[in-house]
Amino acid sequence: MTTSAPRLSAIVLAAGKGTRMKSQLPKVLHPLCGRPLVDYPVQAAFEAGADQVVVVTSGQPELTAALEARYGKERISIAVQDPPRGTGDAVRAGLSAVKHPRTLILYGDTPLLRAQDLTGLIQALDVAGQELSILTALLDVPFGYGRVLRDAAGNVQEVREQRDLQSDAERAIREVNAGMYAANTEKLRAAVAELQPNNAQGEYYLTDIVASLAKISRVAPVQGEAEALLGVNDRADLGRAEELLFARNRDQHRKAGVTVHGDARIDSGVEIAADVEIGAGVSLRGNTKIGTGTRVDVGSVLVDAQIGENVEVKPYCVIAQSSVGDRAQLGPFAHLRPDSEIEAEAHVGNFVETKKTRVRRGAKANHLAYLGDADVGERANIGAGTIVCNYDGFVKRQTTIGEGAFIGSDSQLIAPVTIGKNAYVGTGSTITEDVPEGALAIGRARQVNKPGYAAKLREKLAAAKKK
Ligand code: UD1
Ligand code: CA
Repeated sequence: MTTSAPRLSAIVLAAGKGTRMKSQLPKVLHPLCGRPLVDYPVQAAFEAGADQVVVVTSGQPELTAALEARYGKERISIAVQDPPRGTGDAVRAGLSAVKHPRTLILYGDTPLLRAQDLTGLIQALDVAGQELSILTALLDVPFGYGRVLRDAAGNVQEVREQRDLQSDAERAIREVNAGMYAANTEKLRAAVAELQPNNAQGEYYLTDIVASLAKISRVAPVQGEAEALLGVNDRADLGRAEELLFARNRDQHRKAGVTVHGDARIDSGVEIAADVEIGAGVSLRGNTKIGTGTRVDVGSVLVDAQIGENVEVKPYCVIAQSSVGDRAQLGPFAHLRPDSEIEAEAHVGNFVETKKTRVRRGAKANHLAYLGDADVGERANIGAGTIVCNYDGFVKRQTTIGEGAFIGSDSQLIAPVTIGKNAYVGTGSTITEDVPEGALAIGRARQVNKPGYAAKLREKLAAAKKK
């Protein structure tokens, strides 16, 4: 696009209930690979050069808030269409906010669309005598989509909806309306003002502008990829879109130097450095970021996780809203709950659960432990079976373990408690009081041996059973 091209507004249609989803949640807010459906066309519009995006909604405050938070109030305008009376009526609502001489129209339920799919559509407007361009695609199964009707010379005459098709010949047409248009704003305003609800659904169909504008100028059909137009109308469509998008995300990371095995599911927006290896069955969600040289092995689930470089995440770890420093080792089967901060070179091994806990540099909790509301000092060693008792059913309390401290296996640290630097807690201790720096703490009953008593005990127990 040349810089001298007239400025571009975009309207994204996102009103209506989306009845076919059978959901309380508005259709365009359903998440797809970590982002609401409507996010995809909005982003594609900006990337394709739109200076302004108007989203037509039914006035749902959660949708407005989500869009403004993500793109900023100055770049997003919200136009409310209430009640939703069809796509033509929605564009009429959107046009009230449109500022620029060219308008791109996208539907909020076509998340596989990319900016590159729109370039040709927008450029077609710069051709003399073309005031409207529409994206079309050839589908093997065109059922449900509006069909593109052409005259004998091949000129686009009309788009006719599935329910309004009049013959088997029309139903057999494989060229469908993708639901993306670019138009001269003034011509569009005039055409939309004339729309009438004369159709099977009694709605104002945007698609009727094709026939009316075809009478005054050439409507330019721009053929796109079938995949780009997949419209999400029900949950089966959502499932298909999800598979396609995850496949696309895998390919994108592979091209950028990430080894992605099998069916790993990587949300849109996850950032992965080159030379990372992602195992099969891994799920990377939300705003997860992974540094170079790291391996995330089979079956792990990471949500909003910040992972450093050369980290080893062994199979089946779950990490949520937590960070992991360089060269740390996790798992297998480690569970980092929110606000865990695992520093460089620390080890968090199998069946270790952390929550709101900092495990400082080089500290190790290798097996079977619970660390909640705790600060574990550098190089401290947490033995197998250690439990930080941070909660009494009412209040959560803090535990501090000093650097180089050693917590013997099967100990309970009853918070609030502080274990001093280099202190040593004997195996099986129940620690209720602070342990001074360098001290040995033993908090368990002393062992008693009664020679020969085992046989007597058995006799006693056997007699008791007979009674
Ligand atoms: C529409 C097209 C069809 C095209 C298909 C491509 C029309 C009449 N038909 O059909 O030709 O092949 O998309 O996917 O345009 N919306 C509003 N307000 C309304 C109604 C809808 O904002 O009053 C929004 C919806 O949120 C949705 C989009 O417009 O994101 C499309 O509406 P939908 O009802 O899904 O249209 P289709 O039947 O799929
Ligand atoms: Ca649709």
